[in-house]
Amino acid sequence: MDSFLIEGGLPLNGEVTISGSKNAVLPILAATLLTSETCIIRRVPDLSDVGFMLKILQSLGAEVTQDGSTLTIRAANISGRGDYELIRKMRGSICILGPLLARLKEAVVSLPGGCVIGTRPIDLHLKGLRGLGAQVEVEAGYVRVHASRLEGQMIFLGGRVGPTVLGTANLMMAATLASGITVIESAACEPEVVDLAGLLIAMGAKVRGAGTPTITIVGVDRLHGADYAVIPDRIEAGTFLLAAAITRSHLRISPVIPEHLGAVITKLEEAGCTIQHDGIGLTVKADRITAVDLRTQPFPGFPTDLQAPFMSLLATAQGTSVITENIFENRLQHVAELQRMGAAIRMQGNTAFVEGVSRLSGAPVQGSDLRASAAMVLAGLAADGITTVQGLEFLDRGYADFEGKLNAVGASIRR
Ligand code: EPZ
Repeated sequence: MDSFLIEGGLPLNGEVTISGSKNAVLPILAATLLTSETCIIRRVPDLSDVGFMLKILQSLGAEVTQDGSTLTIRAANISGRGDYELIRKMRGSICILGPLLARLKEAVVSLPGGCVIGTRPIDLHLKGLRGLGAQVEVEAGYVRVHASRLEGQMIFLGGRVGPTVLGTANLMMAATLASGITVIESAACEPEVVDLAGLLIAMGAKVRGAGTPTITIVGVDRLHGADYAVIPDRIEAGTFLLAAAITRSHLRISPVIPEHLGAVITKLEEAGCTIQHDGIGLTVKADRITAVDLRTQPFPGFPTDLQAPFMSLLATAQGTSVITENIFENRLQHVAELQRMGAAIRMQGNTAFVEGVSRLSGAPVQGSDLRASAAMVLAGLAADGITTVQGLEFLDRGYADFEGKLNAVGASIRR
């Protein structure tokens, strides 16, 4: 099990390049199953989750070739049965259901496992596909969907905590080849959903309203290939903004689409950072950080994926911050690890009261999920002494060359 050894207290300086978005590219790769023609996908990040998804596409029969960060995918002759072991390992693979149902009228996948942050149900995904007329059977750890034909419908997709990102992606993809009009109400508005819609439209789909709570799709008979570049990863960008803030440094990160980080930039400025956009990237400066309150919400609210990394920053801020996690039922496990580094945090249900301390102290800590691992690395950058972070298998899922990018701007991290 790999771990990082981090020497804390070093200032950062320089430029960081942001990779393509993990949470955009996973549904986008699934969408290539909607056509037998060739799709070229550019700015694909070098992540283990992407590698898994490509193996799943190949197990379905798609041809995949890679040239750097550009993928060429041709799903000419495919089957509806994926590699269950692979599918079970990566939750994002659930988004092959919609395209396979649309293309082949049937699909069998293993139920995606839950993970440490929550049970990760797929009831809304299945409600959406049933809404188009699919039969859904769940048995023995597999979910099987099939339909003689898919009919467009008005479908309300809101769940107990709001919209579902991948549920919206699945339904949007399935609806592109259904007959008639599908209206998704309470659709997710995340930029990754908008990016997927961009690819679908480039493939000839008729999609309107992506990025708003109401998405309208007019079914077409078939889709053609496309050449499409993925948006930059807003969560990776936010993580590096926080790396600059927690080390009280000055960094430039690019490319960044500022509208994708509105809530995060606002909160960082409220906490005392100076952030400027120069058309392509953001420069961030931080010398004094004060407490702010955070409540995670669906986009455009504060993103749950940056709650843990932001908490590391607030553990070193002046004053007490109140952080509430509203999206996932178990996404506060990094609190115990931060406490091992001297953070003063009190928990009450899904709310953490974080009283900033002047210095964290290095310690051996464990990352429990992808973003909690990133949060522990950030804390290690700012702590006195040496921090070792275990749980890099989570980190490598969502951050391409994280330590390389940090060491290039002055950090001292050894794997
Ligand atoms: C996507 O997961 C992201 N993953 C997550 O990023 C992100 O945290 C999440 O959206 C929320 O923004 C990918 O895009 C690959 P949801 P997704 O369906 O789509 C409940 C990361 O760190 N729900 O929007 O699976 C669910 O339990 C990852 O990069 C149902 O109740 O999340 C959660 O409480 C972590 N029923 C809430 O909705 C369903 O059928 C939001 O989940 C589906 C979801």
